[in-house]
Amino acid sequence: MKQKFVAFLHKGPYAAAVRVALLAVVVLVALCPVSYFAPSAWSALAGIASVSLLFIGIVLLNRLRAKLDDTAALLSVESAMQRLGWAPKDFFTDGAAGSPSLQLFHIKVLSLIRPRNILELGSGQTSKLISAYVADSPGSHAISIEQSQEWHDILRPSISHEYKVVPVAKRHVEGVDVLSYQLDLHDQKFDYVLVDGPDNNLEGWRYTPFSRAGIVDQLPGALAPEFVVVFDDAERPGERQTVELFSKRLTQGGIAHRRFTLIGVKHQAVFVSPNLAFLQSV
Ligand SMILES: C[S@@+](CC[C@H](N)C(=O)[O-])C[C@H]1O[C@@H](n2cnc3c(N)ncnc32)[C@H](O)[C@@H]1O
Repeated sequence: MKQKFVAFLHKGPYAAAVRVALLAVVVLVALCPVSYFAPSAWSALAGIASVSLLFIGIVLLNRLRAKLDDTAALLSVESAMQRLGWAPKDFFTDGAAGSPSLQLFHIKVLSLIRPRNILELGSGQTSKLISAYVADSPGSHAISIEQSQEWHDILRPSISHEYKVVPVAKRHVEGVDVLSYQLDLHDQKFDYVLVDGPDNNLEGWRYTPFSRAGIVDQLPGALAPEFVVVFDDAERPGERQTVELFSKRLTQGGIAHRRFTLIGVKHQAVFVSPNLAFLQSV
C-alpha cells in the first residue's frame, strides 16, 4: 500500500501536480491555528492557495487539451499513412518518438510539397516515413543523420534511404559548448530539413543552452529557394534559444521566410519560404 502511494507520487503525467497539491494541503493544515490568532493573514493564505490551485488547474487543462489535439493528429496520421500507402509495419508515436503533431505536419510536407532533397537530423519514426516517401517519389533524395550506432542498427532494417551514423562533438555557439553532429553540408541545397537531434543524453526537461544549435550557422546556406525547416521540441528553453538564433541567421542572410509554431504535447517551430506559408493552415 505504502509502495503504491509512493509510486503514485513519482509516476504518471501529473505526479508533480499531485505532489504540489498534497504539499499545499499539508501546509494549510499545519497553518490552521493561524486562522484563530491572525484571521487576516489566514485569509491572505487561503487566497494565495486558491489562486495557485486555479493556476494548476489551468496548466492541467492545457495539457489535457494538448493530449486531445495529439490524439486527433494521430488519427489523421494513421489514415493519411493508409491512403498514401506509406504505413510502416512498425510505427510508434510514444516515448522518444516524434509526437503525433510532428508526424502529421511531416506527412503534410512530404505529400503536399514533395521535397526533392531532405535532410533529417536525429532519426526515428519520422525516418521511416521519409523512406516510404522516397520509395514512392522517383528523383527525390533524403539523408538521415544519427549519432548513435546502437539506435542506427535497430532502425536500419526499416530505413531504405541514405542513413548515416555521424559522431557528435562539442561546438562553440553563442559562448556555450553545444553538442553537434560533425557534419559539413558543403554546397548541398535542401528543401526540407527536420531538426530533431542530436540527443543531449539528458532527460528532455533539463535545460540545455542552445540545444541542437550546432547546425544553425551552416543551415541558411544549405537551403533551396523553396524550403521548410522544422525544429522539434521547440517548447524547451534550450531549443527556443536555438530557434531564435536560426531566425536571426535567416534574417542576417537576407533569406525571406515565414515562421509559425505547431502546438501539441510538444511544440514545433517551423520556418518556410514565403510561397509555402499556406502550410500553416492546411
Ligand atoms: C528525439 S529522437 C528523434 C525522433 C524521431 N524524429 C522520431 O520521429 O522518432 C532524437 C535522438 O534520440 C535517439 N532516440 C530516438 N528514439 C530513441 C529510442 N526509442 N530509444 C533510444 N534513443 C532514441 C536517437 O539518437 C535520435 O537521433
